[in-house]
Amino acid sequence: MTQPATSQPVLYSGMQPSADSLHLGNYVGALTNWVKLQNEYDAIFCVVNQHAITSGIDPEQLRTRTLSTAAQYIAAGIDPEKSILYVQSDVPEHAQLAWILGCMTGFGEASRMTQFKDKSQRYGSDKTTVGLFTYPVLMAADILLYQTQQVPVGVDQKQHIELTRNLAERFNSRFGETFTIPEGFIPKANAKVYDLQDPTAKMSKSAPSEAGLLSILDDAKVTTKKVMRAVTDADGEIRYDPEAKPGVSNLLTIFAVLSGRELDDVANEYAGRGYGDLKKGLAEVVDATFTPIRTRTAELLDDRGELTRLLRSGADRARERAAPTLDLVHERIGFPTRADL
Ligand code: AMP
Ligand code: TRP
Repeated sequence: MTQPATSQPVLYSGMQPSADSLHLGNYVGALTNWVKLQNEYDAIFCVVNQHAITSGIDPEQLRTRTLSTAAQYIAAGIDPEKSILYVQSDVPEHAQLAWILGCMTGFGEASRMTQFKDKSQRYGSDKTTVGLFTYPVLMAADILLYQTQQVPVGVDQKQHIELTRNLAERFNSRFGETFTIPEGFIPKANAKVYDLQDPTAKMSKSAPSEAGLLSILDDAKVTTKKVMRAVTDADGEIRYDPEAKPGVSNLLTIFAVLSGRELDDVANEYAGRGYGDLKKGLAEVVDATFTPIRTRTAELLDDRGELTRLLRSGADRARERAAPTLDLVHERIGFPTRADL
């Protein structure tokens, strides 16, 4: 098996460049974890633009969003020198391995993926592409190319990680030890952020309205307004009780996570006070978190030459790691290897 470049375990994750701005859910549920984990792991982070075209292609938007997503990763604390940060389509080995893995995936097996079932139902048969169907196989290729041990993802990706593990085990037992079997790294439930307007639904870019979505790149005035208009309840008491008081509990969770304080500590500070006070306090915390990230993102996007250079160099480093795995796969299945060419 190919050896990782450092003795730290390999960690791999990615997000689609499918919105102009990452939102608070992405920030709390994914990005802040990645930033912490990059110190303990040999970390690789990818802007998965090939996954992003499975539900339609808008070239200008895709170009902008790919760079903007990468800039937001860096602005939030991903260190492109320490970690490997790159754009998926810059490393052709992903598509190459995905083809091979696709030829080892059962049609029925892929048909059982619940995300595909949900999305294809939503899009209708005309807009459901073969790419959307094979999306999880490409994700498996992303992970397996780097001999990944840990994959931090949201709970919605659990089934895709299971498929990745099954494919790796299938390949290894048929053709000999080739892939490391990865593990999903699913954050605790309290890392989940809910929509400010519908606090029983996960905060998501596909929500029916933007009013409940806090975007990193929103102006501070906009985020403050959204926080001040967040849905609460009628009993007027500030305490953490997600069942009975989902709105207030969500505000308290966000407050605690962003300020790095204990939930009880925040709840105690605001106990006996009005919802307006809590919202004002939270709006300040959101502003203090997002404003520096927004400023840094804008600086990075102002110097596209430098940002592109950083991503190219990330892709070079990623290819150095991916190519030996693909070569071994080719050898195992009877394709010519680089040594033969
Ligand atoms: P998505 O925007 O759904 O592609 O998700 C990208 C990453 O952000 C995944 O790791 C998700 O688990 C995480 N994420 C998205 N929305 C939320 C949320 N509301 N709360 C916590 N994590 C989230
Ligand atoms: N499918 C993941 C999501 O929607 C994104 C993704 C693509 C990914 N390839 C990956 C995540 C590899 C982790 C590892 O969130």
